[in-house]
Amino acid sequence: MSRRLLIAPSLLSADFARLAEQVRLVEDAGADLLHVDVMDGHFVGNLTIGPFVVKAIRRVARVPLDVHLMIEEPARYAEAFVKAGASILTYHVESREGGPETAERIRRLGARPGITIRPDTPLAAIRDHLPLVDFVLVMSVMPGFAGQAFMGEVLAKTRALREEHGFAGDLEMDGGIDAATVSRCVAAGCNVLVAGNAIYGAPDPSAALRDLRARAEGALPPE
Ligand code: DX5
Ligand code: ZN
Repeated sequence: MSRRLLIAPSLLSADFARLAEQVRLVEDAGADLLHVDVMDGHFVGNLTIGPFVVKAIRRVARVPLDVHLMIEEPARYAEAFVKAGASILTYHVESREGGPETAERIRRLGARPGITIRPDTPLAAIRDHLPLVDFVLVMSVMPGFAGQAFMGEVLAKTRALREEHGFAGDLEMDGGIDAATVSRCVAAGCNVLVAGNAIYGAPDPSAALRDLRARAEGALPPE
């Protein structure tokens, strides 16, 4: 089965004082999506950005925004993020409003819903969400910070999603993806690869993005 590989640089590792430039840089290097990490200081300790900044990014971006909600109330804030320009909105199953009705709400609002799962949460927790979502985002670090080490044990989950659950949608991995780990993700069924530090932390972010894509393509299973 052929799958479209999507590279999604995470803006969390970008220079926020030069956001428009940083968006253009990765778009020119072929980014398919922009990954935007929203943290509320409750679901995770860190606080990042809200709908106002998403709206500003939307104004300068050409590619769709993949907004990763690490917040306790994804249903409450879904409308604000969709209005701000999120094309994909992923919510955590472990959050207070992380039930399947949040997927339905996001779709009704006109965005593509995705369910996100922490490394320590079993796949069984998202079973009821699978028929309702376009994306499954499997986290390969604990949510909260960029630049953490990849947790290889989560690859069993993406493999099981494809092979046992027959999930045919977009399967996204987020956290610690770099030149050394990207091919393992693709071999385990992922087709959407988020990378923060490996792109924005590289001396040449464009070259790093192109290298990630080449490695990902090289790991695609034969048709
Ligand atoms: C972590 C965020 C990730 C993070 C990825 O909570 O969800 O998107 O920014 O950054 P790297 O690729 O540096 O692990
Ligand atoms: Zn993320």
